[in-house]
Amino acid sequence: MKVQIAASILSADFAALGAAAAAVERGGADLIHVDVMDGHFVPNISIGPLVARSLKRVARVPIDVHLMITDPDRYIDAFASAGASMISVHVEVLPHLHRTVHAIKALGVRAGVVLNPSTPVIAIEQIAGDVDFVLVMSVNPGFGGQAFIPRSESKLREVREALDRAGNTAASIEIDGGIDRSNAALVVAAGARILVAGSAIFHSSDPEQATRELKAAAVGALATASPAL
Ligand code: DX5
Ligand code: ZN
Repeated sequence: MKVQIAASILSADFAALGAAAAAVERGGADLIHVDVMDGHFVPNISIGPLVARSLKRVARVPIDVHLMITDPDRYIDAFASAGASMISVHVEVLPHLHRTVHAIKALGVRAGVVLNPSTPVIAIEQIAGDVDFVLVMSVNPGFGGQAFIPRSESKLREVREALDRAGNTAASIEIDGGIDRSNAALVVAAGARILVAGSAIFHSSDPEQATRELKAAAVGALATASPAL
């Protein structure tokens, strides 16, 4: 399994999203990560399907939508038709997670489930065989620019074990929050294969170069962690 960089446009200049996407693509970003916040599940409000659709029009890489909203079932169709290739939903808000995951897949979109820092891995035990990916939050969702929570490293290993136990070796693990060059190797060694980064990319003076450097750190770590790959 390759390692990928998902550039979170939450930390970009919203007046120039097209240019932001182009810069990270030049730097080697594999995905554009779109953070959707409703001011209810998380304290912040961000963007919705209209912006995802506009990004889809200009982006050359797939759109990865992270729904930090109380009622994701109501908006899955809208994000799928906006052009999302991946949609992830928080386990904390979904009593019928199995139905939601399969509803996402039925739309031809890769389905992911997200764990907040305080949510135990056992919460995905029964869905581990159904998902395309698991997103481990390494900060409390709502804002960019927060510090990586160290406990997330062992959580990544636990999630990998849960997926493998379910026979879902093809499912990948995404990590989101406080990712930068200093911890990229650590999270890759623990099993992360999609690294989300917002402020490490867009709050740097050169987002294209920051993306390139983060990707090099992640790819280098994978080569060290799994020399056979
Ligand atoms: C946080 C979002 C993240 C955020 C990451 O709620 O889910 O995707 O943009 O930003 P950084 O990389 O700055 O922690
Ligand atoms: Zn996110």
